[in-house]
Amino acid sequence: MPLSAAADDPVAKLQAFWNARYAGEEFVYGREPNDFVVQAVPAIPQQGRVLCLADGEGRNSVWLARQGFRVTAVDVAEQGVAKGRELARASGVEIETRVADVTRFDLGVERWDAIVSIFLHLPSKARRDLHHRAIAALAPGGVFVYEAYGPGQLRYRTGGPPEPQLLHSLDDVVSDFDGCAIEHAFEGVRAVNEGRLHRGDGFVVQVIARTLGSEP
Ligand SMILES: C[S@@+](CC[C@H](N)C(=O)[O-])C[C@H]1O[C@@H](n2cnc3c(N)ncnc32)[C@H](O)[C@@H]1O
Repeated sequence: MPLSAAADDPVAKLQAFWNARYAGEEFVYGREPNDFVVQAVPAIPQQGRVLCLADGEGRNSVWLARQGFRVTAVDVAEQGVAKGRELARASGVEIETRVADVTRFDLGVERWDAIVSIFLHLPSKARRDLHHRAIAALAPGGVFVYEAYGPGQLRYRTGGPPEPQLLHSLDDVVSDFDGCAIEHAFEGVRAVNEGRLHRGDGFVVQVIARTLGSEP
């Protein structure tokens, strides 16, 4: 269902773009989880409540559910969300799903033990606002897990948007999490092999930020 009826609405355009990308049977970023999500799991409180932002076709939410987390996935593209639900069913796990624009989605307050954002490329202000709301939405001791392509990715052309205004540096992302403990911060090149659309060496930014208040 369209989030907005107006064809010139930017959210309707975003939704149409991603629905078209997910229209086929292929999982364009693969069925396997993102490498950094797998790496970050020890930082997430066991059996915690996890929100996967911009979860696409569900590869990360479903894998996290298989690890015993209680997972909710949100994405603007209902075609992606539908494939995620099907992947969960085929994997024998349950996930909650929402079709929504994450820049307007109510994240709640102290509601999640982890919020996961993988390859969500927003303009600077929207990114900063979302990250600030995410800090408030995390329970004390909860973690925000972030990986996206960074500015250096423009040289690689192995995935991600070609618009420089959607590619943010490590310093920019870390500065969103002022007041949190930064447990992991990396920017540089790694091999990203995730389906047909993320293929080859890519310049990524990774952050794990923990809200203060209690030990994991
Ligand atoms: C490159 S894909 C990554 C999908 C998934 N995180 C993964 O790693 O497989 C980017 C995703 O961001 C979603 N997205 C972009 N802007 C969004 C927004 N404002 N609200 C919700 N989802 C959004 C798209 O629909 C798409 O599924």
